[in-house]
Amino acid sequence: MRRNSVLAMVALCAAGALHAETMDRMVLSRGGVVLEVSAPASGIMRIRMGRGTLPEDASWAVPAAARRTRLPLNVTRGSDVLQLSAAHIGARIDMRTLRVDVLDGVGKLLLADLAGRSALSGEGGFRMRGRMSGDDHVFGLGDKTGTFDRKGGAYTMWNSDTYKFTQATDPLYKTIPFFMTVSDRGQAYGLFLDNTWRTTFDFGKTERGMLSISGEGGPVDYYVMAGPAPKDVLQQYARLTGTPPLMPQWALGFQQSKWSYKTDAEVRAIAQRLRSERMPSDVVYMDIDYQDRSRPFTVNGATFPDMRKLATDLRGQGIRLVLITDPHVANAPGQGYAAYDGGAARDLFLKLPGGQYYSGDVWPGAAVFPDFSRVQARRWWGDLYAGFVGDGVAGFWNDMNEPSIFNVPSKTMPLDVVHRIESDDFAPRSTSHAEMHNVYGQLNSRATYEGLARLQPDVRPFVLTRATYAGGQRYAATWTGDNVSSWQHLKTGMQQLVNLGLSGFSWVGNDVGGYAGEPPSPELLTRWFQLGAFMPLFRAHAETGRPDQEPWVGDAVQVEIRRRFISERYRLLPYLYATAEENSRSGIPLLRPVFLNFPSVLANGDRLGGSEDQFMVGGDLLLAPSPTLESPGDYNVELPGKDWYDYWTGRRLDGKSQTVKPDIAQLPVYVRPGAIIPKQPLVQSTAFVPEGRLELHVYPGADCHGDLYADDGISMAYQRGSFLRQHIRCEESQSGLKILFEQREGSWRPWWSGVELYIHGWESDAPPEVHAFGAAVAASVDRAQKAALIQVPDMVNGSVEISRSR
Ligand code: GLC
Repeated sequence: MRRNSVLAMVALCAAGALHAETMDRMVLSRGGVVLEVSAPASGIMRIRMGRGTLPEDASWAVPAAARRTRLPLNVTRGSDVLQLSAAHIGARIDMRTLRVDVLDGVGKLLLADLAGRSALSGEGGFRMRGRMSGDDHVFGLGDKTGTFDRKGGAYTMWNSDTYKFTQATDPLYKTIPFFMTVSDRGQAYGLFLDNTWRTTFDFGKTERGMLSISGEGGPVDYYVMAGPAPKDVLQQYARLTGTPPLMPQWALGFQQSKWSYKTDAEVRAIAQRLRSERMPSDVVYMDIDYQDRSRPFTVNGATFPDMRKLATDLRGQGIRLVLITDPHVANAPGQGYAAYDGGAARDLFLKLPGGQYYSGDVWPGAAVFPDFSRVQARRWWGDLYAGFVGDGVAGFWNDMNEPSIFNVPSKTMPLDVVHRIESDDFAPRSTSHAEMHNVYGQLNSRATYEGLARLQPDVRPFVLTRATYAGGQRYAATWTGDNVSSWQHLKTGMQQLVNLGLSGFSWVGNDVGGYAGEPPSPELLTRWFQLGAFMPLFRAHAETGRPDQEPWVGDAVQVEIRRRFISERYRLLPYLYATAEENSRSGIPLLRPVFLNFPSVLANGDRLGGSEDQFMVGGDLLLAPSPTLESPGDYNVELPGKDWYDYWTGRRLDGKSQTVKPDIAQLPVYVRPGAIIPKQPLVQSTAFVPEGRLELHVYPGADCHGDLYADDGISMAYQRGSFLRQHIRCEESQSGLKILFEQREGSWRPWWSGVELYIHGWESDAPPEVHAFGAAVAASVDRAQKAALIQVPDMVNGSVEISRSR
């Protein structure tokens, strides 16, 4: 039936007939070029184009279920123009040129003329051009360096090992060909080009005002997402490429890494020191030197005689081990090296066109590379983790998976290396590295993730990857690679992480303290810990051969500041974890530009309404480090509205604008009026159960609400109902405040014995009169903080009424 209507449509176009009808996709053909337009979901239009035939309908980023859904299209035909509309999206096609304008749900132009048959070159490449609107800002494309707003820049997608990258380095480690534009009015649309080949995105750099997207090969297959708000675009993108899983709660803990802690004794000493210094922490990483001659899936038995005992003993201290396992398998035939022997026996390594293995130099010396484009190779790779998982290793780190190759100018494998695609709904075929390069890291992390999920179906996998492709957020957290210990990197790192969040990747961090270069000054290290404490992934890491960089390095004053911020992170875990859980359902990132929560700020100023230097953690906390981090000069913070609160003092602020005098001991953090933020008593690890009461910090204001989410933090039982979710609201009235605890969902029983309410902005010296569940409850006032403090029982549902005493 579908086939017939498509054929009919092609024929109708040729005859120039006229009428309106409904179909599930429009296919047109002109001058040997075939165009298909369909609407896979509300607010999303997909456009594919090819020479002679459409490109294959298969993807590493968009699972089949999301691609194969097609909403009905209403089609209206004019003489040379076809007008299509579906839920909240539309398109206008010029039938002579096959140019497509994408329209929003009310017919307003979003993106003009991007493709068209002239976009396809004879040699298999393409170049699409479209006009950008003058007030559009551009975000996304992952962790590209340079400015936060990508407008005026041009970027290449080619996964590259870029040690000590600079502001000018491009391409970097990842390929996420998705961006959104946001206008000064806060209106957004998104575009995702699902093409794994080397591509370039030019946002008006070469030609002012023109967007140009070009590639050397691969399909013209792109999706336009109509928003209209920036958050809508992210949700539409998540609908296509998926959301990150809910990571184990320990992934939110502080993670200490270094290349490398070289012996069993050294790893134990680091864990011990984290505890004796009272630096809350959850993870110690083991870099390449735990291995035998840097060979993945081996252990140097002389330096690490008993991995199981090490993992078990550390677990007793609330510390988990994460091990590096790079994709380069040492090219070591006949040496009893199991990873090589197993892969070779199953014929799973990449080959040159002549049929011999491709061998390239990396950490182990000559190495071969699994062909992760094959489901068999991914399965085999995933199974390699059985030993480490059995030893109690908690998570794994896939590095060098651009893939990085030493001693060759291209820094990667030759483009004619042959991959054999046997996966998903791809037709089995051989292809070149030119097609698979940018997706190699994503498939490596997928193999690891899926392997861990098979080995321990009831434990949430934790995988960290350096290279990836769009959709890779379903499998792994990521970090920004080999940064430098400099103020510039600390600042650039922030926009990289925010843009990663705007590219679907929420579990992101950078090497706290900086990885390479001159060691950080004590102040730089402190500032990095302060900001790191609010990053989704909080991992300190540094290169080999440098002086120690752990949080206790330096004078006691600096160390104490770092301890305070790491500890604050642990106190905030209930808030962070609830945000992470929301992210696993919505795709809205943990770390957000201000405009994501408050699109109207864009209209208020030329510096992106303050979004350039400030950012938000979840919906309620706004961080405002100095725009020049190293400078002692005062600076101004523009808040997105009035009546915000100071997070540290709890006090309500006057006015929207704040002047900050930088102080190394402080990082300005502000709270949205209307926030309800859960916090917990300090623990030294997420493995330890907090004791006492849950704190609920209520910051009265408009749209007052907050969320509680809790579960065991580690297993999949939350998917079977063992979780706690509760929405809390507050309502202000003349006489006081009412806090409404909505019906709690799920069967998980939380650790807290009761709740301590902090009502901020309590100007009166007299304690309030409080009724919880209808019974009177005692309250007190903290005059310095201007907060009323009230202890109530655990509120499964019901309300607390707080009235000013008369
Ligand atoms: C790469 C990684 C770095 C790691 C090193 C050794 O450079 O980016 O984090 O420490 O390899 O494994």
